[in-house]
This record gives sequence, structure tokens and C-alpha cells, in this order.
Amino acid sequence: MTATILDGTAIANRIRAQIAEDIERFKNQYGYAPGLGAVLAGDNPASAQYVRMKRRACDAIGVTSVAHVMTADSTQEEVEQAVKALNDDPKIHGILVQLPLPKQINEERVLSLVSIDKDVDGFHPINIGMLAMKGREPSFTPATPTGCMVLLQEADAKIEGANAVVIGRSNIVGLPVAMMLLRANATVTICHSRTQDIPGIVRQADIVIAAIGQPEFVKGSWLKPGAVVIDVGTNQVDDPTSEKGYKFVGDVEFETAKEVAGAISKVPGGVGPLTITMLMQNTVKAAWRIAAKSTN
Ligand code: GUN
Repeated sequence: MTATILDGTAIANRIRAQIAEDIERFKNQYGYAPGLGAVLAGDNPASAQYVRMKRRACDAIGVTSVAHVMTADSTQEEVEQAVKALNDDPKIHGILVQLPLPKQINEERVLSLVSIDKDVDGFHPINIGMLAMKGREPSFTPATPTGCMVLLQEADAKIEGANAVVIGRSNIVGLPVAMMLLRANATVTICHSRTQDIPGIVRQADIVIAAIGQPEFVKGSWLKPGAVVIDVGTNQVDDPTSEKGYKFVGDVEFETAKEVAGAISKVPGGVGPLTITMLMQNTVKAAWRIAAKSTN
């Protein structure tokens, strides 16, 4: 079997065109654009790159963006002030606190400060709590897990009743995507660094979400034939054959996995473009809600 390759860039472009139309409608109705505010503290190059990409996507789609860029030695008070300023800014509808924060900063306190109405990353403890509970609706769901769910839909994966295996239990991806799969009635198993026999568990999976941050960790030989595989990993590895000397690979060994899977997402060009798209979608959703509240 050769898998259907899920092209996240093409899917994201299609969804972004719809979001751009929605932004036009918003601007026509209210006379201003939706706005996203980012808080970036520290000198993590990957975080800086994510924030640059998110701001570029804002420019391209018609969302205004501002960034509070702070040094690695910023204090709790300074980071909290940046969040409060964005909470109070009527032209800002979505707030993104780029994680991880420097180690002296209490992340939970910062995320708790983000206005629920502007929590477009879905990381406020109340939103995560709502996501975890049956019969409750979070205001927003986190971008990368939502992007994974869109890819599953695009792959025509049957989620209800499926065995879904999530590899990785991070607050940003593994845990929330497991909760989203559970809400969609999958039988969910979360594997992590202490799990015994991950290959044996993956072999039972109709759906595999790989979010462990280890290059090519999941092998094709572990997969159940026909499984739908979403690869969240973006790992930089040496590549002497490339001009730059490195390349990015996922958490799944693509070459062997594509021979067994029914569908598999690419790296790069899989989940990544959808993450940013879901953030844009949440920002526009926030803008409509906030604008409607303030005109009522
Ligand atoms: N760090 C890595 N991924 C993300 C994300 O989706 N949102 C935020 N805020 N920080 C991240």
C-alpha cells in the first residue's frame, strides 16, 4: 500500500482563502481589521521563528498584529504587564503567549491572565478544563491539535470508535489532541517516555498522532496497514547533501511509513501550515464575538 499524502499547505491555503473572505466581511461591517497580539519573551530561536511566521500570516490574510518582544531576563511583572496591555487594547482580539517562557516566569499565572475572550491559543486553564469535560465547550481549542483534527477530516478518517494513539503528552499538543479525539468518540491511548512497548500499542492504532519531538521515532513496521498518521514533529537533523547542511524531519520515518499507512501528513508542509491557519481562524472568531458584544 502507498499512503495518500496529506498536503497541509494546500489544505491551509484553501481554508485561508475562506478566512480572508470572512475578514473582508468583518472589516466592511466594523471598519477595522481583527487584531492579534503576541508576547515573545526570551531568545529561543524556534519561538522567534514561530512568531515571525504567525505575524507574516497575519499580514498576508488581513489581520493586524502587534508583538511584545522581551528579553530572556524579563520579570514576571513585565510579562504580565504585556498580557494586561493586550487584554485592555480594544483593537486586539486574540492574544498569543509564545511558549516556552523563560524559566523564571510562572507560565500558569501568565496564561491565567489572558482574557478568556481573547484566548485564541486555547491555553487558559478554564479553556483547557472545558475541553477536558464532557458537555462543556471551550471558547477556543489550541491551534496545533485543531490542525490535526482538520487533517484527519481531510483524510476521511473515521474517528468515532477508532483506536487513536497519541505519542507525546505535552500541554501544547499531546494532551489537548487526546482530549479532542476523545470528544470525537475515539478510544484514546496516550504514549509517553515511560510507556512500555510503544510499537505494540501503535500496531493497534487506526489513527496515530506523533508528537514526541524525536526524529523518525515511529517506524513503518509499527503501523497497522491503512492507519492514518499525523506527524506533528519538526526536528532539525544534519543533512550534508543539502545546501544548508540540515533538513527537517518529522517524528515518523516517512519513507517506511508511507508504504504501510492509508494516509500520512508531510513534514514540513503538513501540520505546520494548519497550526497557523487555525490561529488565524480563532482570531477572526474572537473578533466577531468581541465586536458583537461591544455593539450590543
Ligand atoms: N510553542 C510551540 N507551539 C506553540 C503554540 O502553538 N502556541 C504557543 N503559544 N506556543 C507554542
